[in-house]
Amino acid sequence: MNNTLEIQDPSGKLGVLIPGLGAVGTTFIAGVYATRKGIAKPVGSLTQLNTIRLGKRTDKRVPLIKDFVPLAQLDNLVFGGWDIFKDNAYEAAKKAGVLNPTHLAAVRPELEAIVPWPAVYDATYLPRIKGENVKSGETKMDLAKQVIEDIQRFQRGNDLARMVMIWCGSTEVFIEKCDVHNTLETFEQGLRENHPMISPSMIYAYASLQCGVPFANGAPNLCVDIPAMVELAREKCVPICGKDFKTGQTLMKTIIAPGLKSRMLGVHGWFSTNILGNRDGEVLDHPESFKTKEKSKLSVLEQILQPDLYPDLYKGLDHLVRINYYPPRGDAKEGWDNIDFFGWMGYPMQLKINMLCRDSILAAPIVLDLALFLDLAQRCDFRGIQEWLSFYFKSPQCADKLYPEHDLFIQMMKLKNTLRYMRGEDVITHLGLEYYD
Ligand SMILES: NC(=O)c1ccc[n+]([C@@H]2O[C@H](COP(=O)([O-])OP(=O)(O)OC[C@H]3O[C@@H](n4cnc5c(N)ncnc54)[C@H](O)[C@@H]3O)[C@@H](O)[C@H]2O)c1
Repeated sequence: MNNTLEIQDPSGKLGVLIPGLGAVGTTFIAGVYATRKGIAKPVGSLTQLNTIRLGKRTDKRVPLIKDFVPLAQLDNLVFGGWDIFKDNAYEAAKKAGVLNPTHLAAVRPELEAIVPWPAVYDATYLPRIKGENVKSGETKMDLAKQVIEDIQRFQRGNDLARMVMIWCGSTEVFIEKCDVHNTLETFEQGLRENHPMISPSMIYAYASLQCGVPFANGAPNLCVDIPAMVELAREKCVPICGKDFKTGQTLMKTIIAPGLKSRMLGVHGWFSTNILGNRDGEVLDHPESFKTKEKSKLSVLEQILQPDLYPDLYKGLDHLVRINYYPPRGDAKEGWDNIDFFGWMGYPMQLKINMLCRDSILAAPIVLDLALFLDLAQRCDFRGIQEWLSFYFKSPQCADKLYPEHDLFIQMMKLKNTLRYMRGEDVITHLGLEYYD
């Protein structure tokens, strides 16, 4: 046993702030209420269902994660959020078409009570959609101050002990890091001078961190992944993480690619295509928004397969990703992967994956886990980038000097070892020699 960290008690209510009350945001909220009422199970959530092994395999100590670390209770979550549309969470969930009418009816009053506050909106970052429920202000700093007021009002109005913010808004168009993102000083000057390279998601993130509220970015846009935000998070002692929830095809990729690589099987090419008909699909139909997503999806294989270390197996691998907006499908996405791999003496083989998944059903438990784990991290006095939450992201944010870890199983080990570390338990290396002494 090592030293246990001082972890503040999770008593009181936890406010969950959501910019973007669309398919993912409303499916998450509806699922929490349905779980509270006992009419659904929180499938896919580690914080609710997963166990953690402690000590030796022979010790037989495997508590539930939620009994091992002090997490906020589902009954203590309170939801609020912003959207560029005025629909309350029930109307938005109905339009998103993810949940069936029976489930929606069971949580209707709770969802109807969540009415989005006017959003920070900039059409250049969201060319496909025009919103009417938006804030106005002379400068981006004025908009940030309005978001801060929303956060403070939400806290006072609901008597919240703590809060977290999870970006579930649309993917913004692709931008690169530039000078205005470099330091907190340049960023704040940029806010005052309406710098065009400051996007709405950055304004929410800035407001969140200024209020001491942990922030996670579920979309692939830069948002909190710029030095100015890392600096602010460290200064304010706030945990942050991102980016882009790992669901669907990328989740499968980070399960299968480590398997092929661990057996030293080569890959000539990996072609991934999808049809998707929800609003996210419509946003991603715009080339600049898709570019943000494409970058996030492409980075995964390169890091897992390490072609520089294994040129005979992976050098020159063709990796293509396509997303096709096809309205009849709604949220029920279908993805096809064709993997051209090869084995002993270079003999070619193929693997085909046809995945019929529901994007928001896979994303909702991630939102829940991030909300509870970020709140836990803050109560442990963790600040800045939370690499142990990489498990949940396609493009995990990490320190400048590191490459991101994409392998789902390494990410899982990192997450659970961090929980063991918090509670002063030995981290598990899987060496296992002690069983044979
Ligand atoms: N569903 C998944 O599996 C998945 C996986 C990875 C990432 N994501 C990302 O999560 C985000 C949400 O996905 P979704 O399927 O719920 O999309 P969605 O289009 O249903 O919901 C997004 C919501 O954000 C709102 N919005 C856009 N800009 C906003 C702003 N500036 N302020 C406040 N609200 C704003 C939109 O009006 C919309 O209601 C997207 O960026 C998507 O790329 C989703």
